[in-house]
Amino acid sequence: MPVYCITGANRGIGLEFVRQLAQSSENTILAGIRTLTSDLTDLKAVASPSTHILECDSSSVQSIHGFVKEVARVLGSDKKVDYLLNVAGVNIASWQSSLTLGPDDLQAQIAINVIGPAKIVELLLDAGLLSKDVRVLNMTSGLGSMQRSSEIKPRKCAGYSISKAGLNMLTVHQSEDLKPHLPGAVVICMDPGWVKTRMGGEGAMLEPSHSVGSMLGVLHGLKEGDNGKFYHYTGEVVPW
Ligand SMILES: NC(=O)c1ccc[n+]([C@@H]2O[C@H](COP(=O)([O-])OP(=O)(O)OC[C@H]3O[C@@H](n4cnc5c(N)ncnc54)[C@H](OP(=O)(O)O)[C@@H]3O)[C@@H](O)[C@H]2O)c1
Repeated sequence: MPVYCITGANRGIGLEFVRQLAQSSENTILAGIRTLTSDLTDLKAVASPSTHILECDSSSVQSIHGFVKEVARVLGSDKKVDYLLNVAGVNIASWQSSLTLGPDDLQAQIAINVIGPAKIVELLLDAGLLSKDVRVLNMTSGLGSMQRSSEIKPRKCAGYSISKAGLNMLTVHQSEDLKPHLPGAVVICMDPGWVKTRMGGEGAMLEPSHSVGSMLGVLHGLKEGDNGKFYHYTGEVVPW
């Protein structure tokens, strides 16, 4: 009876994770969303009876504290999070290059794309809510790869790219820092490919169903030796 915790679950890739996982009544799903005042029509349409919709604003440490309390209430004393999918993310002012960075835009992206996933892991761990073999997937981007980013033409998305590179480094740290607490934990980051969502746009190459189906295959096949790696949704390892 695995427990999945997914942030950014109201639309896009996060919503598709909920849709696919909700097809098994065995799965408990904790669907984190930025605000309970969002339009939840799509999420409620795909949710199973064991899907719990909880508020989790990744940009707010206070909100993450509230989320962790709700996770504890829902799971009770006998369940823990087996799969934590940090999917929530933003790409703000994508036209900016390294020569035109807006400080507030960069800070907002770091708050949501890096600090959020850091605090979610930290506070769930502190509350004893991560299973001993937890799998943590931080949703990154090819733009977080140093090698891939140097090849991007035309030059854009500098702030997003910097924040996802930060998320990749966070993944490496989490993969080592969890070991003394949860020796069986595996933390990875994954590039979902270019996916048709509000962020990816209509011109993107992949349907969310294809990307997410493939990512779930990779996630479920992870072994301890995979800890700290950067994957493409296909299962290939991405160069840092
Ligand atoms: N689509 C692609 O081609 C692509 C490629 C590479 C990486 N990614 C990554 O994949 C992840 C999902 O992206 P997507 O394509 O599904 O984008 P999307 O359709 O724009 O969805 C983004 C999700 O993140 C949520 N979110 C934004 N700010 C948040 C906050 N402060 N707290 C909690 N949730 C917040 C949004 O909630 P609201 O509706 O409340 O704003 C929404 O659920 C992101 O991390 C993105 O960087 C996507």
